[in-house]
Amino acid sequence: MQVFFAEAAFILLLSVCILAAIRHVIQFRVAIANIQNHPGYRVLLNTASYLASACPEIKGIAFGYDNQIHNKRNSYEWAGWDLISVVSAFPRVTTELFLTDAAAIKEVTMSRHRFPKPIDEYAILLFFGSNIVASEDEDWKRVRKIVAPAFSDRNNRLVWDETQLIMLDLFNNVWGDRKEIVVDHCVDITLQIALSVISVAGFGRRIYWRDNQATPIGHSMTFKEALHTVCTDIIPILIMPKWAMGLTKRLRKVRVAFEEFEKYMVDLIQDRKTLEKKEQRYDLLSSLLDANDDEDLGVAKLSTKELFGNIFIFLFAGHETTAHTLCFTFALLALYPDEQDALFQHIKKLLPDDRLPTYDEMPLFTHSLAVFYETLRLFPPVTVIPKISAQDTILKAGNAAGETKSIPVPKGTYLRIDVPGLHYNSRYWEDPHTFKPSRFLEDWPRDAFMPLSAGARACLGRKFTETEGVAAITMLVSRYKIEVKDEPQFAAESFEEKKARILKVAAVITQT
Ligand code: HEM
Repeated sequence: MQVFFAEAAFILLLSVCILAAIRHVIQFRVAIANIQNHPGYRVLLNTASYLASACPEIKGIAFGYDNQIHNKRNSYEWAGWDLISVVSAFPRVTTELFLTDAAAIKEVTMSRHRFPKPIDEYAILLFFGSNIVASEDEDWKRVRKIVAPAFSDRNNRLVWDETQLIMLDLFNNVWGDRKEIVVDHCVDITLQIALSVISVAGFGRRIYWRDNQATPIGHSMTFKEALHTVCTDIIPILIMPKWAMGLTKRLRKVRVAFEEFEKYMVDLIQDRKTLEKKEQRYDLLSSLLDANDDEDLGVAKLSTKELFGNIFIFLFAGHETTAHTLCFTFALLALYPDEQDALFQHIKKLLPDDRLPTYDEMPLFTHSLAVFYETLRLFPPVTVIPKISAQDTILKAGNAAGETKSIPVPKGTYLRIDVPGLHYNSRYWEDPHTFKPSRFLEDWPRDAFMPLSAGARACLGRKFTETEGVAAITMLVSRYKIEVKDEPQFAAESFEEKKARILKVAAVITQT
């Protein structure tokens, strides 16, 4: 009798599994038919699942998300369109469209209601509290109303002035009068620049290169140490369960840094509230607190948790992105001395006497901005901008032959703006693999440049990062010549080999 029941249960389970599999196969076929079998990949694993995103491309199994992003144009050339489809089956049937067609991308970024953010994919960023990046619809509108005024012209002025002071501090107090400075990892310098800028323009706290401040009473880390760890080691706290944060020395340090940073934020907020005579301060935190108290905005205040959420998101969105862009900029200038010289000549024409330029003069430094943009084109820090279709609709895709095609986009389709794929698309950029900042000095295809997104959900820190970039590049190039370090073991390498190596690692800076 018992054997009979076990057999029956097994057969029942098997039948359920077979039925579920058949249903899945039917859904999969319907999904493909719904996009009129537009060329692309048919795979088992969903692209956005952690398993699949870590997986290399395996035919029929995984799309190889990272591969795709690094190969830039291969899939689009193979498909013959600047839009490819990926239909995947597990854990649920999902349709994704990867876009590198500028007109289609413009349509997606300009229609927030038709193509909102797939908020489920941002859930990880809610760890710190709800925030502007990870919200949509009415929630986003409310937070944006309070947060956006902080990114004011006065804040940008602060970014400009403080970036100059931070660079001078580096030149005078760290590098001194040495004729040659050898930097093994350029990113160590640029991470510190970006950290100091966000500290002062974000939170009103100056930190110096040679900061040997004692740990204040009531804290177990200095502000600089806590901020540095929070900025550079944010991933473990996002992905590890709470209990696991005590397992190793490094994880414990990260946990303490986050607790400490939060304590410092509480102190800073308290300071701002108890200041007897309110000084005018234009750092992001002060402006955020002012806007939060502004009844005229007509929206519900941010709670303390939401304030923290947004403060953390400024760090998350703005620190590494800017630091890595600056690092690539210096590496590219070292590899292309003619481009560096053209930039140097332009700066010298504007500043023959080595004085510090003012913020109002920033628009004159067109060449510095062009170099920053060209780096962002070649090495966009954010490679995919996700959206979802809120309705059944149609997108048009083009190709190199000048043809266009309408592709049905069913409601619930994930849209992935493939930023490197767009930036290396030869329909928009001549010689897309070449570092050529001058392309940004002429009329350039604005819709084909998407490092900071566009439309209503575009980067709020755009002017912040551009101001920091232009100030830092102008200061460094006006005083130092950037070269690739001579190393005998690499004497025989070709330019392409050197480029591949340097863009992976470091640049060297010498005084002009
Ligand atoms: C090179 C530097 C930067 C790059 C490449 C960059 C890129 C981006 C991108 C692609 C988005 C859209 C993200 C999405 O759709 O999910 C975004 C949004 C955002 N960025 Fe940046 N960003 C940079 C610097 C900064 C800085 C310095 C800050 C602040 C200090 C900042 C603050 C923000 C905020 C608050 C948003 C959300 C805007 C909204 O949803 O309304 N970013 N950024």
